[in-house]
Amino acid sequence: MKILNYGSLNIDLVYSVEHFVRTGETIASTSLRRFAGGKGLNQSVALGRAKANVYHGGKVGPDGQFLVELLREACVDTTHLAQNGTATGTAVIQVDPAGQNCIIIHGGANQENTREELDRMLAPFSRGDLLLLQNEVNDLPYIIRAAKTKGMQVALNPSPISSTLRDLPGELVDLWILNEVEGYELTGKQEPRNILATLGQKYPEAQIVLTLGAEGSICLDGGEMYHQPIFPVEPVDTTAAGDTFTGYYLASIARGESIPQALRTASMAASIAVTRPGAAPSIPGYEEVLAALKTR
Ligand code: RIB
Repeated sequence: MKILNYGSLNIDLVYSVEHFVRTGETIASTSLRRFAGGKGLNQSVALGRAKANVYHGGKVGPDGQFLVELLREACVDTTHLAQNGTATGTAVIQVDPAGQNCIIIHGGANQENTREELDRMLAPFSRGDLLLLQNEVNDLPYIIRAAKTKGMQVALNPSPISSTLRDLPGELVDLWILNEVEGYELTGKQEPRNILATLGQKYPEAQIVLTLGAEGSICLDGGEMYHQPIFPVEPVDTTAAGDTFTGYYLASIARGESIPQALRTASMAASIAVTRPGAAPSIPGYEEVLAALKTR
């Protein structure tokens, strides 16, 4: 299975702070670092490091060449990455001493993909291949419909949540990977099993994976429910934990692992990622994840 990830590429500016800045307040950070990021890029890096057959489609500006090179180093095909004159997407990220974060993004080049480019991106893919999407690039409804017309499967990580997601043809999504906040926004339900039940009723054919932070993850597929606890660690920076989970989960499913196996592999990869600073640089390689799994 070939996986096309149409997704964002960001330059992450990561500020370490004692607490998240409050209304009207100015605070000094204890460090400022610049990392490769973007939910799309992070998920492609995770897929590549997990040895999936992954292609990344999207757009950077003239300042984003290092992001393209990082994808190539992670064995991601970048043939469908375009460049234009608009600055690359940016994220301003605060990280507190507990490793929690809050993020502001500016889309930049991520929001300038044309329909002609999306059609070219999809051209080499066919029935049985998978299109992966997050919510940091433009024209998701168009590419979902075009991919389904070709017989592709569609996986959606509806993150970050926004009102534009209401316009999505959710009935065409085969696999949802989302967290509790996104689940609440989409269903109005807070309790994880109610989120799954509501989404499951609305999209009975879809597989739904819900990540629950310290409570692990659960998956609903064909009426069956699966639960995977986390592997507890001391978090340094939780940025990209969800992206690492998504990339490793899909790579495991693509390689034919069962849902419980894929949840376990993804959970271990994410638990390693949160022990390191930054987004893309924190994502572990496949051998490291396998070695860690053998110890548990
Ligand atoms: O999921 C983490 C990512 O969200 C960061 O890398 C940042 O760029 C934002 O897109």
